[in-house]
Amino acid sequence: MKTDSPFLELQDGAPRVRVWFDGQPLDLPAGANLAAALLAAGVQVFRHTPVSGAPRAPFCMMGACFECLVETGGGVRQACMLEVEEGMKIARPHEAEAGDATL
Ligand code: FES
Repeated sequence: MKTDSPFLELQDGAPRVRVWFDGQPLDLPAGANLAAALLAAGVQVFRHTPVSGAPRAPFCMMGACFECLVETGGGVRQACMLEVEEGMKIARPHEAEAGDATL
């Protein structure tokens, strides 16, 4: 899959599975790190902060910063701690709340 992303996949040609990110279909390498695969597919914003609505994306890629939070499997999880699985439904968490805060 060619995108405008500055991130490259290490194993081009790996078997692909269909996932959905915010309702858009993406074919990602099965078993790949979800955060890395989404970045390579061109996803630049994983979530927005609940207070200011600032866009966030993976930073540490090791489970420490929580900037990669996504909603999947019925909860909010760190994308960098997940593997790509067929049929995953992934969404930006708390999108309806972004920008609603009065702080
Ligand atoms: S990128 Fe830091 S916790 Fe996922």
